[in-house]
Amino acid sequence: MRFQGQHIWIIGASSGIGKAVAVELAQQGASLILSARNSEALVALKDSLPGKHKVYPLDVADNVAVERVIQEVTNEVNVLDRVIYMAAMYEPEYIANMDLDKASMMLRVNILGAMGVVKGVLPVMETQPYAQIAICASSAGYTGLAGGQPYSATKAALINFTESLAVEVPKHIDVKLINPGFVKTPLTDKNQFAMPMIMEVEDAAKCLIGGLNNNNFEIAFPKKFILLLKLICILPARLQQKVKHKLANRSSEK
Ligand SMILES: NC(=O)c1ccc[n+]([C@@H]2O[C@H](COP(=O)([O-])OP(=O)(O)OC[C@H]3O[C@@H](n4cnc5c(N)ncnc54)[C@H](OP(=O)(O)O)[C@@H]3O)[C@@H](O)[C@H]2O)c1
Repeated sequence: MRFQGQHIWIIGASSGIGKAVAVELAQQGASLILSARNSEALVALKDSLPGKHKVYPLDVADNVAVERVIQEVTNEVNVLDRVIYMAAMYEPEYIANMDLDKASMMLRVNILGAMGVVKGVLPVMETQPYAQIAICASSAGYTGLAGGQPYSATKAALINFTESLAVEVPKHIDVKLINPGFVKTPLTDKNQFAMPMIMEVEDAAKCLIGGLNNNNFEIAFPKKFILLLKLICILPARLQQKVKHKLANRSSEK
């Protein structure tokens, strides 16, 4: 299935991968609904894109706003072909330094926000002949590494949630799990450590969009990085921990 004429709602479209996905999908003829908190950035993006698109500013941490905007979006379009959930907060820390108020907000945005959006769009999608829900978690959710909390835990939860979703929904609703490795965006610009195999955001957007129309459940990239992480995950626990200690020591030497 192509994207021409499809109504695709991107939540987290104001920067980074979500924005690059919007640019690429608009070029392929999709009619986009663009959401995030930064309405100025969304309007500037909309004005720069070919085709007709709509902006719906939204803070996914606000349950009432999520319900209202879902209502507005579904009133606006006859068919909501796809929803791509990209929104996330990222401030990884060591557990001893964790700010619990920030952790709580990260849980709201990264996991509860996705749950609220999915719960709200499902009744509409159930009445359509085809629909897709694509949720961006992260390869950071595969396994716990030093200094990655609570971000990694929210992404592990999101992977688990998306796995449940895929087997709960009717077959005509396609569910995709997106797990990127490192991608150069405002999110990773915060990182002080070396990021192996980091991708340019345009390349990441192409990988993501390529995966939306294939049969696989998971869209994960870049392949080599993902394979290495998955290999670590199948090691016995104590051996995994040794590898993770080495990785932590190596990144603290940078
Ligand atoms: N970059 C990477 O290496 C990488 C790797 C793995 C996974 N990911 C995932 O990829 C997705 C996109 O990340 P990115 O790298 O493109 O980062 P980004 O540039 O920081 O984009 C994050 C997006 O989420 C939106 N957002 C944040 N809080 C929100 C809220 N409360 N309500 C609504 N929208 C909110 C931001 O917009 P506003 O600030 O305008 O609200 C922005 O559009 C995230 O889910 C991230 O976890 C990224």
